[in-house]
Amino acid sequence: MQREFILSPSLLSCDFGRMTEELNALEEAGLKWVHWDVMDGRFVPNITLGQPIIKALRKNSNLFFDVHLMIEEPERYLADFVDAGADLICVHAETTRHLERTVSEIRRLGAKCAVALNPATSLFDVEYLIPQLDMVLLMSVNPGFGGQKFIPFTMDKLSELSALRNDWNPEMLIQVDGGCTPENTPDLVAAGADVLVSGSAFFKHPPYKERHETFLKAAGAL
Ligand code: DX5
Ligand code: ZN
Repeated sequence: MQREFILSPSLLSCDFGRMTEELNALEEAGLKWVHWDVMDGRFVPNITLGQPIIKALRKNSNLFFDVHLMIEEPERYLADFVDAGADLICVHAETTRHLERTVSEIRRLGAKCAVALNPATSLFDVEYLIPQLDMVLLMSVNPGFGGQKFIPFTMDKLSELSALRNDWNPEMLIQVDGGCTPENTPDLVAAGADVLVSGSAFFKHPPYKERHETFLKAAGAL
């Protein structure tokens, strides 16, 4: 099955004082997705932003809002994030006691639904849910900060997940987040990644149109 390669720039590395301009610049540069890193200072040792900011910026953007929740008990806030304009909500398997219930609730609320796994979390934790997911996110760094180094064993995990996906839900996307660069993009795509998140390797290299094209070429999509 031929899948489209998608780059989802992580706003964690953008200029937080100029977020409206940054979102507009992404759209003008031809990006389709944008990745929001929501952190609570409990599941991860950092705090970023929440649903009021997303809601305020939603009004001026047509990008696909890919919302990565790094928060404990995300089930408490799902309706708020959908109301704020999230197109996709991704919860960590490690943060919610009843993962199937949380996934079903995201679906019921009308958003696309994804589950993220930390580097050390086994694929077993998500295996039975594959038929009902739009996407699985494999963390390739320990979540909390941008600019970290890609953890190499992610590649094996990615190949294993790709095989499971082909058996159980070929439509499901696989996203990789953390330390993604144009250099490791060819290997990631070959191993089955469809959506790559990039913070520092994207925003630190303007202009955005050219940087996007560099990723697309590395993915064999241009
Ligand atoms: C890490 C976040 C990532 C991160 C990606 O907790 O989930 O989205 O910001 O940033 P880079 O591409 O710099 O590793
Ligand atoms: Zn993220």
